[in-house]
Amino acid sequence: MTRKCGVLQRAALWFRLALLLLSAVGYAAAAGGCSSVAFPSNRLYAACSDLPRHSSSIHWSYDSAAATLSFAFVAPPAKPEGWVSWAINPTADGMLGSQALIAFHQPDGSMGVRTYNITGYASIAEGPIDFNASNLAAEYSGGAMRLYGKLKLPAGMTVVKQVWQVGSSVADGVPQKHGFQPDNLQSKGTLDLIKGAISPSGGSTNVKKNVHGVLNAVSWGIMLPIGAIIARYLKTFKSADPAWFYLHVTCQIVGYGVGVGGWAIGLNLGSKSKGIQYTTHRNIGIILFCLGTLQVFALFLRPSKDHKYRFIWNIYHYLVGYTVIVLGIVNVFKGLEILSVDHKWTMGYIIAVAILGGIALFLEVVTWSVILKRKDARSGSNGV
Ligand SMILES: *[C@@H]1O[C@H](CO)[C@@H](O)[C@H](O)[C@H]1NC(C)=O
Ligand SMILES: *[C@@H]1O[C@H](CO)[C@@H](O)[C@H](O)[C@H]1NC(C)=O
Repeated sequence: MTRKCGVLQRAALWFRLALLLLSAVGYAAAAGGCSSVAFPSNRLYAACSDLPRHSSSIHWSYDSAAATLSFAFVAPPAKPEGWVSWAINPTADGMLGSQALIAFHQPDGSMGVRTYNITGYASIAEGPIDFNASNLAAEYSGGAMRLYGKLKLPAGMTVVKQVWQVGSSVADGVPQKHGFQPDNLQSKGTLDLIKGAISPSGGSTNVKKNVHGVLNAVSWGIMLPIGAIIARYLKTFKSADPAWFYLHVTCQIVGYGVGVGGWAIGLNLGSKSKGIQYTTHRNIGIILFCLGTLQVFALFLRPSKDHKYRFIWNIYHYLVGYTVIVLGIVNVFKGLEILSVDHKWTMGYIIAVAILGGIALFLEVVTWSVILKRKDARSGSNGV
Protein backbone atom coordinates (compact mmCIF):
# COMPACT_ATOMS: atom_id res chain seq x y z
CA MET A 1 0.00 0.00 0.00
CA THR A 2 2.63 2.54 1.11
CA ARG A 3 4.88 1.33 -1.64
CA LYS A 4 2.23 1.99 -4.26
CA CYS A 5 1.74 5.47 -2.82
CA GLY A 6 5.47 6.08 -3.06
CA VAL A 7 5.53 5.09 -6.72
CA LEU A 8 2.54 7.28 -7.50
CA GLN A 9 4.04 10.20 -5.65
CA ARG A 10 7.31 9.84 -7.49
CA ALA A 11 5.52 9.61 -10.82
CA ALA A 12 3.58 12.77 -9.99
CA LEU A 13 6.81 14.54 -9.04
CA TRP A 14 8.48 13.57 -12.32
CA PHE A 15 5.41 14.66 -14.21
CA ARG A 16 5.49 18.05 -12.50
CA LEU A 17 9.22 18.42 -13.16
CA ALA A 18 8.71 17.57 -16.82
CA LEU A 19 5.91 20.15 -17.05
CA LEU A 20 8.12 22.77 -15.44
CA LEU A 21 10.92 22.02 -17.88
CA LEU A 22 8.59 22.13 -20.85
CA SER A 23 7.09 25.43 -19.78
CA ALA A 24 10.57 26.88 -19.26
CA VAL A 25 11.60 25.80 -22.76
CA GLY A 26 8.32 27.11 -24.11
CA TYR A 27 8.81 30.43 -22.37
CA ALA A 28 12.34 30.84 -23.73
CA ALA A 29 11.12 30.07 -27.23
CA ALA A 30 8.11 32.37 -26.99
CA ALA A 31 10.27 35.15 -25.58
CA GLY A 32 12.67 35.77 -28.41
CA GLY A 33 13.90 32.81 -30.45
CA CYS A 34 14.28 33.16 -34.23
CA SER A 35 12.06 30.21 -35.05
CA SER A 36 9.25 31.31 -32.78
CA VAL A 37 8.76 34.97 -33.69
CA ALA A 38 6.12 35.56 -36.37
CA PHE A 39 6.04 39.00 -37.92
CA PRO A 40 3.20 40.55 -39.91
CA SER A 41 3.71 40.40 -43.69
CA ASN A 42 4.85 44.02 -43.92
CA ARG A 43 7.74 43.19 -41.63
CA LEU A 44 9.65 40.31 -43.12
CA TYR A 45 13.37 39.91 -42.64
CA ALA A 46 15.92 38.00 -44.69
CA ALA A 47 18.05 36.85 -41.76
CA CYS A 48 17.83 36.10 -38.08
CA SER A 49 20.18 35.20 -35.27
CA ASP A 50 19.39 34.01 -31.79
CA LEU A 51 21.49 36.07 -29.42
CA PRO A 52 23.34 34.28 -26.65
CA ARG A 53 21.98 36.36 -23.74
CA HIS A 54 18.56 37.54 -22.54
CA SER A 55 16.62 34.98 -24.69
CA SER A 56 16.67 37.53 -27.49
CA SER A 57 17.00 37.57 -31.25
CA ILE A 58 17.89 40.01 -34.01
CA HIS A 59 16.05 39.82 -37.35
CA TRP A 60 17.23 41.92 -40.26
CA SER A 61 17.46 42.72 -43.95
CA TYR A 62 20.48 44.56 -45.23
CA ASP A 63 20.28 46.52 -48.48
CA SER A 64 23.90 46.79 -49.58
CA ALA A 65 23.17 49.22 -52.45
CA ALA A 66 21.54 51.75 -50.13
CA ALA A 67 23.54 50.62 -47.06
CA THR A 68 20.39 50.48 -44.98
CA LEU A 69 19.63 48.01 -42.26
CA SER A 70 16.02 47.17 -41.44
CA PHE A 71 15.77 45.19 -38.25
CA ALA A 72 13.64 43.89 -35.43
CA PHE A 73 15.11 43.15 -32.03
CA VAL A 74 12.99 40.87 -29.84
CA ALA A 75 13.60 40.32 -26.12
CA PRO A 76 11.64 39.97 -22.89
CA PRO A 77 12.33 43.02 -20.70
CA ALA A 78 13.65 42.31 -17.20
CA LYS A 79 10.20 43.36 -15.90
CA PRO A 80 7.01 44.13 -17.87
CA GLU A 81 7.42 47.84 -17.04
CA GLY A 82 11.07 47.77 -18.14
CA TRP A 83 12.86 48.29 -21.44
CA VAL A 84 14.81 46.53 -24.17
CA SER A 85 17.64 48.00 -26.20
CA TRP A 86 19.69 47.21 -29.27
CA ALA A 87 22.70 49.22 -30.34
CA ILE A 88 25.55 49.40 -32.77
CA ASN A 89 28.84 50.57 -31.35
CA PRO A 90 30.89 52.04 -34.23
CA THR A 91 33.97 52.79 -32.14
CA ALA A 92 34.41 50.34 -29.30
CA ASP A 93 33.45 47.08 -27.76
CA GLY A 94 30.72 47.38 -25.15
CA MET A 95 28.34 50.01 -23.86
CA LEU A 96 30.43 53.21 -24.06
CA GLY A 97 30.11 54.79 -27.48
CA SER A 98 27.15 52.69 -28.54
CA GLN A 99 24.43 54.22 -30.66
CA ALA A 100 21.43 52.79 -28.92
CA LEU A 101 17.74 52.38 -29.61
CA ILE A 102 15.63 51.75 -26.54
CA ALA A 103 12.01 50.56 -26.58
CA PHE A 104 9.72 51.05 -23.57
CA HIS A 105 6.26 52.13 -22.47
CA GLN A 106 6.19 55.89 -23.03
CA PRO A 107 4.66 58.16 -20.38
CA ASP A 108 1.38 58.09 -22.36
CA GLY A 109 1.31 54.28 -22.09
CA SER A 110 2.03 53.46 -25.74
CA MET A 111 5.17 51.56 -26.78
CA GLY A 112 7.83 53.76 -28.36
CA VAL A 113 11.51 53.86 -29.33
CA ARG A 114 14.01 56.60 -28.57
CA THR A 115 17.65 57.01 -29.60
CA TYR A 116 20.63 57.49 -27.27
CA ASN A 117 24.26 58.31 -27.92
CA ILE A 118 25.77 56.53 -24.89
CA THR A 119 28.74 58.46 -23.57
CA GLY A 120 28.89 57.41 -19.91
CA TYR A 121 27.81 54.76 -17.45
CA ALA A 122 26.18 57.11 -14.96
CA SER A 123 23.23 58.39 -16.97
CA ILE A 124 21.95 58.42 -20.52
CA ALA A 125 20.44 61.26 -22.50
CA GLU A 126 18.10 60.97 -25.42
CA GLY A 127 19.47 62.53 -28.59
CA PRO A 128 20.53 62.00 -32.18
CA ILE A 129 22.77 59.04 -33.00
CA ASP A 130 25.48 58.55 -35.62
CA PHE A 131 23.16 56.60 -37.93
CA ASN A 132 20.09 58.16 -39.45
CA ALA A 133 17.29 56.20 -37.79
CA SER A 134 13.81 55.90 -39.29
CA ASN A 135 10.70 53.70 -39.13
CA LEU A 136 11.12 53.35 -35.38
CA ALA A 137 8.33 51.41 -33.69
CA ALA A 138 7.84 49.03 -30.79
CA GLU A 139 5.35 46.46 -29.59
CA TYR A 140 4.86 44.55 -26.41
CA SER A 141 3.13 41.18 -26.48
CA GLY A 142 3.48 37.73 -24.99
CA GLY A 143 6.02 38.95 -22.44
CA ALA A 144 8.47 40.18 -25.11
CA MET A 145 9.17 43.60 -26.55
CA ARG A 146 9.87 44.11 -30.25
CA LEU A 147 11.96 47.03 -31.35
CA TYR A 148 11.72 47.90 -35.05
CA GLY A 149 13.92 50.32 -36.92
CA LYS A 150 15.84 51.20 -40.03
CA LEU A 151 19.38 52.56 -39.88
CA LYS A 152 21.45 54.21 -42.58
CA LEU A 153 24.94 52.80 -42.14
CA PRO A 154 28.16 54.15 -43.64
CA ALA A 155 28.84 52.40 -46.97
CA GLY A 156 30.88 49.23 -46.45
CA MET A 157 29.96 48.78 -42.80
CA THR A 158 28.76 45.20 -43.08
CA VAL A 159 30.16 43.78 -39.86
CA VAL A 160 28.92 45.68 -36.86
CA LYS A 161 29.62 45.53 -33.15
CA GLN A 162 26.27 45.00 -31.51
CA VAL A 163 25.25 45.50 -27.91
CA TRP A 164 21.88 44.52 -26.53
CA GLN A 165 20.35 44.91 -23.12
CA VAL A 166 17.21 44.64 -21.04
CA GLY A 167 16.18 46.68 -18.01
CA SER A 168 13.52 46.52 -15.37
CA SER A 169 12.24 50.07 -14.99
CA VAL A 170 11.63 53.43 -16.60
CA ALA A 171 11.19 56.63 -14.60
CA ASP A 172 9.66 59.77 -16.18
CA GLY A 173 10.45 58.55 -19.67
CA VAL A 174 14.07 57.70 -18.80
CA PRO A 175 15.15 54.03 -18.90
CA GLN A 176 16.85 53.18 -15.59
CA LYS A 177 20.10 51.27 -15.11
CA HIS A 178 20.13 47.62 -16.06
CA GLY A 179 21.30 44.81 -13.79
CA PHE A 180 24.92 43.77 -13.50
CA GLN A 181 24.54 40.05 -13.84
CA PRO A 182 26.87 38.20 -16.22
CA ASP A 183 24.07 38.19 -18.81
CA ASN A 184 23.97 41.99 -18.68
CA LEU A 185 27.73 42.33 -19.00
CA GLN A 186 28.24 39.85 -21.80
CA SER A 187 25.40 40.78 -24.11
CA LYS A 188 27.61 42.07 -26.89
CA GLY A 189 29.39 40.76 -29.93
CA THR A 190 29.73 41.21 -33.65
CA LEU A 191 27.07 40.73 -36.26
CA ASP A 192 27.96 40.05 -39.88
CA LEU A 193 25.10 41.58 -41.85
CA ILE A 194 25.97 39.75 -45.06
CA LYS A 195 26.95 36.31 -43.79
CA GLY A 196 24.39 36.39 -41.01
CA ALA A 197 26.92 35.18 -38.49
CA ILE A 198 27.22 36.38 -34.93
CA SER A 199 30.14 35.92 -32.60
CA PRO A 200 30.67 36.94 -29.02
CA SER A 201 33.14 39.76 -28.50
CA GLY A 202 36.17 39.84 -26.26
CA GLY A 203 37.54 36.52 -27.52
CA SER A 204 41.03 37.06 -26.15
CA THR A 205 39.61 38.48 -22.92
CA ASN A 206 37.50 35.39 -22.48
CA VAL A 207 40.52 33.14 -22.98
CA LYS A 208 42.41 35.23 -20.42
CA LYS A 209 39.54 35.00 -17.95
CA ASN A 210 39.51 31.24 -18.25
CA VAL A 211 43.29 30.96 -17.87
CA HIS A 212 43.11 33.25 -14.83
CA GLY A 213 40.35 31.09 -13.39
CA VAL A 214 42.09 27.76 -13.96
CA LEU A 215 45.50 28.93 -12.66
CA ASN A 216 44.02 30.43 -9.51
CA ALA A 217 41.61 27.60 -8.79
CA VAL A 218 44.44 25.09 -9.09
CA SER A 219 46.99 27.12 -7.09
CA TRP A 220 45.21 29.03 -4.32
CA GLY A 221 42.19 26.78 -4.41
CA ILE A 222 43.76 23.30 -4.50
CA MET A 223 47.58 23.17 -4.25
CA LEU A 224 47.94 25.36 -1.16
CA PRO A 225 45.31 23.39 0.78
CA ILE A 226 47.05 20.14 -0.24
CA GLY A 227 50.37 21.59 0.94
CA ALA A 228 48.82 22.42 4.29
CA ILE A 229 47.35 18.93 4.59
CA ILE A 230 50.81 17.45 3.91
CA ALA A 231 52.39 19.56 6.63
CA ARG A 232 49.73 18.96 9.23
CA TYR A 233 49.27 15.23 8.86
CA LEU A 234 52.54 13.77 7.56
CA LYS A 235 54.40 15.42 10.42
CA THR A 236 52.78 12.99 12.86
CA PHE A 237 54.65 10.07 11.31
CA LYS A 238 58.27 10.03 12.40
CA SER A 239 59.26 8.09 9.29
CA ALA A 240 58.01 10.98 7.12
CA ASP A 241 60.47 13.42 8.65
CA PRO A 242 61.95 15.47 6.99
CA ALA A 243 60.25 14.41 3.72
CA TRP A 244 57.01 16.13 4.74
CA PHE A 245 58.85 19.42 5.12
CA TYR A 246 60.31 19.36 1.59
CA LEU A 247 57.00 18.19 0.13
CA HIS A 248 55.19 20.99 1.94
CA VAL A 249 57.64 23.67 0.87
CA THR A 250 57.70 22.47 -2.74
CA CYS A 251 53.93 22.29 -2.96
CA GLN A 252 53.49 25.77 -1.47
CA ILE A 253 56.21 27.41 -3.56
CA VAL A 254 54.92 25.90 -6.81
CA GLY A 255 51.35 26.80 -5.80
CA TYR A 256 52.44 30.33 -4.94
CA GLY A 257 54.30 30.70 -8.27
CA VAL A 258 51.31 29.52 -10.31
CA GLY A 259 49.03 31.64 -8.14
CA VAL A 260 51.06 34.79 -8.74
CA GLY A 261 50.84 34.15 -12.50
CA GLY A 262 47.07 33.83 -12.27
CA TRP A 263 46.93 36.85 -10.00
CA ALA A 264 48.84 39.02 -12.49
CA ILE A 265 46.44 38.03 -15.29
CA GLY A 266 43.58 38.93 -12.94
CA LEU A 267 45.03 42.40 -12.31
CA ASN A 268 45.41 42.91 -16.04
CA LEU A 269 41.79 41.87 -16.60
CA GLY A 270 40.70 44.24 -13.85
CA SER A 271 42.55 47.18 -15.39
CA LYS A 272 40.89 46.50 -18.74
CA SER A 273 37.41 46.18 -17.35
CA LYS A 274 36.34 49.81 -17.34
CA GLY A 275 33.16 50.70 -15.56
CA ILE A 276 32.71 47.29 -13.97
CA GLN A 277 34.58 46.50 -10.79
CA TYR A 278 34.45 43.35 -8.81
CA THR A 279 35.69 45.06 -5.68
CA THR A 280 35.46 42.15 -3.25
CA HIS A 281 37.11 39.66 -5.62
CA ARG A 282 39.87 42.14 -6.37
CA ASN A 283 40.53 43.08 -2.73
CA ILE A 284 40.60 39.48 -1.59
CA GLY A 285 43.01 38.78 -4.46
CA ILE A 286 45.35 41.55 -3.33
CA ILE A 287 45.23 40.43 0.31
CA LEU A 288 45.97 36.88 -0.82
CA PHE A 289 48.99 37.99 -2.80
CA CYS A 290 50.36 39.97 0.17
CA LEU A 291 49.81 37.17 2.69
CA GLY A 292 51.16 34.55 0.29
CA THR A 293 54.29 36.58 -0.34
CA LEU A 294 54.75 37.19 3.38
CA GLN A 295 54.45 33.46 3.99
CA VAL A 296 57.12 32.58 1.42
CA PHE A 297 59.58 35.15 2.72
CA ALA A 298 58.93 34.33 6.35
CA LEU A 299 60.38 30.91 5.57
CA PHE A 300 63.82 32.56 5.47
CA LEU A 301 63.26 34.15 8.86
CA ARG A 302 62.27 30.91 10.54
CA PRO A 303 64.07 30.59 13.89
CA SER A 304 65.73 27.23 14.53
CA LYS A 305 63.71 24.50 16.22
CA ASP A 306 64.73 25.27 19.78
CA HIS A 307 64.89 29.04 19.49
CA LYS A 308 62.61 30.77 21.98
CA TYR A 309 60.81 32.64 19.20
CA ARG A 310 60.09 29.53 17.18
CA PHE A 311 56.82 29.05 19.04
CA ILE A 312 55.66 32.54 18.05
CA TRP A 313 56.80 32.02 14.49
CA ASN A 314 54.76 28.81 14.36
CA ILE A 315 51.61 30.58 15.54
CA TYR A 316 52.13 33.30 12.96
CA HIS A 317 52.75 30.68 10.25
CA TYR A 318 49.54 28.78 11.06
CA LEU A 319 47.42 31.91 11.27
CA VAL A 320 48.57 33.36 7.97
CA GLY A 321 48.55 29.94 6.28
CA TYR A 322 44.98 29.09 7.25
CA THR A 323 43.81 32.60 6.39
CA VAL A 324 45.30 32.22 2.91
CA ILE A 325 43.57 28.88 2.43
CA VAL A 326 40.16 30.12 3.52
CA LEU A 327 40.39 33.35 1.52
CA GLY A 328 41.73 31.44 -1.49
CA ILE A 329 38.75 29.09 -1.55
CA VAL A 330 36.30 31.95 -0.99
CA ASN A 331 37.84 33.90 -3.86
CA VAL A 332 37.69 30.95 -6.23
CA PHE A 333 33.94 30.81 -5.56
CA LYS A 334 33.67 34.57 -6.11
CA GLY A 335 35.52 34.18 -9.40
CA LEU A 336 33.33 31.30 -10.54
CA GLU A 337 30.32 33.49 -9.85
CA ILE A 338 31.77 36.38 -11.89
CA LEU A 339 32.68 34.13 -14.81
CA SER A 340 29.20 32.62 -14.61
CA VAL A 341 30.73 29.40 -15.83
CA ASP A 342 28.71 26.30 -16.44
CA HIS A 343 27.25 24.85 -13.30
CA LYS A 344 29.42 21.77 -13.75
CA TRP A 345 32.65 23.73 -13.11
CA THR A 346 31.35 25.18 -9.87
CA MET A 347 30.10 21.72 -8.92
CA GLY A 348 33.52 20.26 -9.82
CA TYR A 349 35.27 22.73 -7.55
CA ILE A 350 32.80 22.10 -4.72
CA ILE A 351 33.53 18.37 -5.08
CA ALA A 352 37.30 19.00 -5.06
CA VAL A 353 37.02 21.08 -1.87
CA ALA A 354 34.73 18.48 -0.30
CA ILE A 355 37.23 15.71 -1.10
CA LEU A 356 40.10 17.72 0.40
CA GLY A 357 37.94 18.48 3.44
CA GLY A 358 37.05 14.80 3.77
CA ILE A 359 40.69 13.75 3.55
CA ALA A 360 41.66 16.35 6.15
CA LEU A 361 38.91 15.20 8.49
CA PHE A 362 39.91 11.55 8.09
CA LEU A 363 43.58 12.33 8.70
CA GLU A 364 42.67 14.49 11.68
CA VAL A 365 40.99 11.46 13.26
CA VAL A 366 43.94 9.20 12.39
CA THR A 367 46.40 11.74 13.79
CA TRP A 368 44.56 12.05 17.07
CA SER A 369 44.27 8.31 17.46
CA VAL A 370 48.03 7.96 16.81
CA ILE A 371 48.82 10.69 19.32
CA LEU A 372 46.51 9.23 21.94
CA LYS A 373 47.95 5.76 21.41
CA ARG A 374 51.46 7.10 21.84
CA LYS A 375 50.42 8.81 25.05
CA ASP A 376 48.82 5.59 26.24
CA ALA A 377 51.92 3.59 25.45
CA ARG A 378 54.08 6.09 27.26
CA SER A 379 51.93 6.29 30.38
CA GLY A 380 51.57 2.48 30.28
CA SER A 381 55.33 1.95 30.33
CA ASN A 382 55.68 4.56 33.03
CA GLY A 383 53.22 2.66 35.18
CA VAL A 384 55.15 -0.59 34.95
C1 LIG B 1 27.99 61.16 -29.54
O1 LIG B 1 28.84 61.52 -28.46
C2 LIG B 1 30.20 61.65 -28.84
C3 LIG B 1 31.00 61.90 -27.57
O2 LIG B 1 30.48 62.97 -26.84
C4 LIG B 1 30.35 62.75 -29.87
O3 LIG B 1 31.70 62.84 -30.27
C5 LIG B 1 29.47 62.40 -31.08
O4 LIG B 1 29.53 63.46 -32.01
C6 LIG B 1 28.05 62.19 -30.64
N1 LIG B 1 27.24 61.77 -31.78
C7 LIG B 1 26.14 62.37 -32.15
C8 LIG B 1 25.43 61.84 -33.32
O5 LIG B 1 25.71 63.35 -31.54
C1 LIG C 1 17.99 61.19 -42.52
O1 LIG C 1 16.87 60.69 -43.26
C2 LIG C 1 15.92 61.66 -43.57
C3 LIG C 1 14.74 60.96 -44.25
O2 LIG C 1 15.17 59.95 -45.08
C4 LIG C 1 16.56 62.71 -44.50
O3 LIG C 1 15.62 63.72 -44.82
C5 LIG C 1 17.76 63.31 -43.78
O4 LIG C 1 18.42 64.20 -44.63
C6 LIG C 1 18.70 62.24 -43.35
N1 LIG C 1 19.75 62.85 -42.52
C7 LIG C 1 21.02 62.56 -42.69
C8 LIG C 1 21.97 63.26 -41.75
O5 LIG C 1 21.42 61.77 -43.53
